[in-house]
Amino acid sequence: MDQPLLKLSHVTVCYNGLPAVRDISFDLMPGEVLGLVGESGSGKSTVIRSVTGLLGEAGRVTRGDICFKGKNVIDMSDKARRHLLGPEIGMVFQDCEAALCPIRKVGAQIHESLSAHKKITRKTSDRLAAEMMTKIGLRDPERILSGYPFEMSGGMNQRIGIVMAMLMQPALLLADEPTSALDVTVQAQVVQLLRQMRENDHTAMILVTHNMGLVEALCDRVLVMKVGQMVETGPVKSLLAHPASPYTRQLMDAVLRLAR
Ligand SMILES: Nc1ncnc2c1ncn2[C@@H]1O[C@H](COP(=O)(O)OP(=O)(O)OP(=O)(O)O)[C@@H](O)[C@H]1O
Ligand SMILES: [Mg+2]
Repeated sequence: MDQPLLKLSHVTVCYNGLPAVRDISFDLMPGEVLGLVGESGSGKSTVIRSVTGLLGEAGRVTRGDICFKGKNVIDMSDKARRHLLGPEIGMVFQDCEAALCPIRKVGAQIHESLSAHKKITRKTSDRLAAEMMTKIGLRDPERILSGYPFEMSGGMNQRIGIVMAMLMQPALLLADEPTSALDVTVQAQVVQLLRQMRENDHTAMILVTHNMGLVEALCDRVLVMKVGQMVETGPVKSLLAHPASPYTRQLMDAVLRLAR
């Protein structure tokens, strides 16, 4: 049996001493895709941020262990943890602005993030970025690469963030609402690219989303959260077909009502 790539054991996270997430445990195998769902404020972003330590000034993991490739990230220095970010653990944020500096050219930022971890020329980084941009429906990549994030739409910046994370080929991708600012056609392109990434690179992912369609299309397993706690977890097919908890059923009904 393979070792889990990521293992959370009884993780509690507090902001200013008050628990926001309590007693979360799960394993993620290499190449596995886990969907994290639950109502707004249930602690989804907190869970994935705890893995990288990006919890802000007020946030702290107060109990439990988070092991990535067998090493407890809780015991790591900030510096060691920062080294994981990018090449080992990629993050796509809910607010894409967080990943990009608005007033520096896109191509330069992508090159900088890639060359921090491997030797690569600007020309090669531009070429790789342009190829991936085309795959997720970003037209005229040359213009985007020589432009600034503040000149792009929210949906464009979200895709640029995805391209940046994917180019690093991390073992684990943490994606917080990766398609929230995108229209349905573009969502489908992003889903396609995430699938490819998973098939070609065997990338494991945690996808935070309100979109059950995305869960069905991409995830192997789902974890349902409510007010900071785990409600249920299981394989996508059986959980969506036979949700054990009334809360999960409610969540799914709400999505279906909107779709109608
Ligand atoms: N930096 C912070 N400081 C204080 N409290 C925070 C902070 N970030 C999150 N919280 C609190 O932690 C709880 C969980 O928030 P979190 O952002 O993880 O929820 P979420 O499930 O991602 O919600 P959404 O679907 O709206 O993004 C909330 O009660 C929130 O108010
Ligand atoms: Mg969130």
